Amino acid sequence: MNATWKGAIWGAAALLILMIVVALIVILTGGYNVAATDRHNPIVGWALTTTMGNSVRRQAADIKPPAEFTPAMIAAGAGEYKAMCSHCHGGVGQSRAEWAEVMLPKPPPLAEAAKEWDPKEVFWLVKHGVKMSGMPAFGPTHDDKTIWNIVAFVKALPEMPAEQYAGYSSHHDEEMHDDHAHEESEAPHHH
Ligand code: HEC
Repeated sequence: MNATWKGAIWGAAALLILMIVVALIVILTGGYNVAATDRHNPIVGWALTTTMGNSVRRQAADIKPPAEFTPAMIAAGAGEYKAMCSHCHGGVGQSRAEWAEVMLPKPPPLAEAAKEWDPKEVFWLVKHGVKMSGMPAFGPTHDDKTIWNIVAFVKALPEMPAEQYAGYSSHHDEEMHDDHAHEESEAPHHH
């Protein structure tokens, strides 16, 4: 090995050590602002977005979606979506909740963003969530069948007329309504 090569290798090693030291200083001194009111610096932002997209595509590669998404699945998914997703992702002719408006990263409006993901990728995203972004994992609390209903609905969103969207009721509303009815039917016993 000649002297030029040795010099280059030492140079590269020194640079690597310097980079690790700088990274450790930033990590250990709190030098990076994690405030959700402060955008990621462009390099970190690019790295996170690219990591997220490639990770989802890879993790979801072997998932098998159902043969078709029926109107019944879409309707069932609509109830879940309105109860658990719309405050962050909005709907057709419906904007996010005010507090979700200031989230960083901003939850993308799925009426548009759903086009960019295959059904199996939406399934994976809903089941597992996205680390350090605010996108929750629904897998621990919802079975695959329920999640596929949500996927059916999400994939239908970009083509959905606003009236159709408005016509679906939230699963949560129905539950509240049931509880209320239950309370009323028991009321006479307390008197
Ligand atoms: C508390 C807010 C919040 C809730 C509730 C939420 N999400 Fe998300 N979601 C996010 C955020 C933030 C991102 C962006 C993640 C990123 O870019 O790394 C995201 C990303 C996504 C993506 C990927 C979109 C893209 O183009 O990046 C999909 C699909 C998605 N969410 C679906 C859902 C569904 C379906 C539900 C309901 C079952 C849901 N989300 C509930 C905040 C939320």
